Amino acid sequence: MDWYKVADSLASIPFNEKKIALIKLEGKEMCLVNSPLGLRACANRCPHAGGNLSEGFIDSRNHIVCYVHYYRFSLDTGRDALNEGYFLKTYPAKVNDEGVFVKV
Ligand code: FES
Repeated sequence: MDWYKVADSLASIPFNEKKIALIKLEGKEMCLVNSPLGLRACANRCPHAGGNLSEGFIDSRNHIVCYVHYYRFSLDTGRDALNEGYFLKTYPAKVNDEGVFVKV
């Protein structure tokens, strides 16, 4: 896995009102999430039935919530909150003086 620069700064990323931005990196659609616990990155495709997680929202426990059937996934572990065995791909993300980076 390598770190890829996705923006010069956090401020230049077009986060929506739910603080989620859809990006494409290395052919993958991903969500960048400006969560209360810091920057997180995950696949855009919901592992339950393919909903676009970029159209979801973040709950108070730092889960990304899919708008289709409201499954919740940890932005840290990718596990679904009900432990039904669905697993969301997550990616390391970081911000520093040189920009915003995601490891893919
Ligand atoms: S498609 Fe996301 S919860 Fe069902």
